[in-house]
Amino acid sequence: MITIFAILLLGFLPFTPADPDPVQDFCVPEATPVQLNRLRSIPCKSPSNVTADDFVFSGIQSRGNFSSSTGFAGVAVNPVQFPALNTLGMSFARADFEPGGVNPPHYHPRATETALVVEGSVYSGFVDSTGRVYAKVVEKGEVMVFPRGMVHFQMNGGDSVATIFGSFNSENPGLVKIPGTGAVVGALV
Ligand SMILES: *[C@@H]1O[C@H](CO)[C@@H](O)[C@H](O)[C@H]1NC(C)=O
Ligand SMILES: *[C@@H]1O[C@H](CO)[C@@H](O)[C@H](O)[C@H]1NC(C)=O
Repeated sequence: MITIFAILLLGFLPFTPADPDPVQDFCVPEATPVQLNRLRSIPCKSPSNVTADDFVFSGIQSRGNFSSSTGFAGVAVNPVQFPALNTLGMSFARADFEPGGVNPPHYHPRATETALVVEGSVYSGFVDSTGRVYAKVVEKGEVMVFPRGMVHFQMNGGDSVATIFGSFNSENPGLVKIPGTGAVVGALV
């Protein structure tokens, strides 16, 4: 009887695909988390022990390492790298592209992304669920939005390094790579 009740209850609970709303100003974990799925089990630091330094991340002052196969260097930052993001429902990334560098087609199942071009220009695009492609060269200072779950790609068509800053409305956007990406980029460009 209790089991049946529990199953019925589960069926009626509202399903929310978004990150949960915070119930306090912030929750800087007391210990450095090593895995996202362990975060919620780590107590928050006492506010009296939290300082401005907790809220500043220095790890994207320089770029990551370029992959020799794609000419792409991505540094993803979530609460594991930057613990103060814990419970805040967002994360971000820095990505650099060598001339001709490609961030091959992929999607984030749990987040919409905005990508601000901070250096150079980046040919960027996504494919909607009907197969229509939205792509153009995004210049320095411009921002493109990639709706949640839509396959997108970026490529540096310029002759100097390009850099973007990407923001995600999830602490854990997820990354699903599309196989056979070289062919897909070739077809789109
Ligand atoms: C603040 O941090 C210190 C050192 O880690 C610790 O001993 C102390 O218990 C903390 N204070 C609170 C209120 O949690
Ligand atoms: C880049 O490579 C160096 C040497 O292998 C490594 O120490 C460093 O952590 C890497 N940087 C990133 C952002 O992955």
